[in-house]
Amino acid sequence: MAILTFKFRKIGIYKLNNINWLNYWNKKNIWTESDLWKKNNDIFFLKTSHIFNFSKKNIVLDIGCGNGDFTNKVINRVDKVYCVDTSQEYVNICKTRFSNNKNVTVLKLGNNYTDLSFIKDIKFSIIIANSVVQYYRSQNEIIDLVKSVQKISAENARFLISDIEIFSDKKKSYLNLIYNSIVKRYFFSLIKVGLKLIVNKEYSKTKQRQSILAVNFDKLIRDLSIFVKKISIINENITVNVNRKHLLIEL
Ligand SMILES: C[S@@+](CC[C@H](N)C(=O)[O-])C[C@H]1O[C@@H](n2cnc3c(N)ncnc32)[C@H](O)[C@@H]1O
Repeated sequence: MAILTFKFRKIGIYKLNNINWLNYWNKKNIWTESDLWKKNNDIFFLKTSHIFNFSKKNIVLDIGCGNGDFTNKVINRVDKVYCVDTSQEYVNICKTRFSNNKNVTVLKLGNNYTDLSFIKDIKFSIIIANSVVQYYRSQNEIIDLVKSVQKISAENARFLISDIEIFSDKKKSYLNLIYNSIVKRYFFSLIKVGLKLIVNKEYSKTKQRQSILAVNFDKLIRDLSIFVKKISIINENITVNVNRKHLLIEL
């Protein structure tokens, strides 16, 4: 009996340890097909088009590419896109989605996801990580990522890290989000996702085990400015998440 209890306890601990963001994204979830994601990528593509002026001279790296919505929009404007993600689920989705497009390469990131040295002989001019670093284990990993990106970037390359979660007043954030969703016409998409989040508890369960990484923004900028050419803060709302921060880094 004692052995059985011990085994059950071990299985329980094993299961709890497996609740983390990497595993959350590795499974089917409520976001992949959601209207909110589509709307988010519509806004993001429009806003980033002004920042980057995408052209056929650009090779883009889409870090944490998700279902490939952004890549799908940008690919006709640029030379090539490399999509990378830790999630096998999204890697499979993107491989199928872009199977007929030889200008899109889809690659899976390993557990050491800030190490991009396996991407050989490519020099990226535009690098994007939209709504990804909040799933990192620590702020230092963002620094590691930027250092890694630096090694595979072309001269004058720029790296946009967007949708960075910071410490903020949650009540105010939600009110701003609702206000913005009405103005930008994604209120119903937001409500649909909200209802799904209430029914499907996976997201909140994961958040309890591994909190969303809230960045110390000033420290991040200080730490990055030691080794990058220039950092700008983008003050516009370039995603649906109105209280997130966005950094444009000249590498
Ligand atoms: C909120 S989604 C954003 C997807 C996409 N960038 C977009 O804006 O539509 C987060 C994405 O980051 C990926 N992800 C989570 N942790 C990651 C990590 N450590 N490295 C790279 N990608 C990660 C997830 O698999 C998922 O595709």
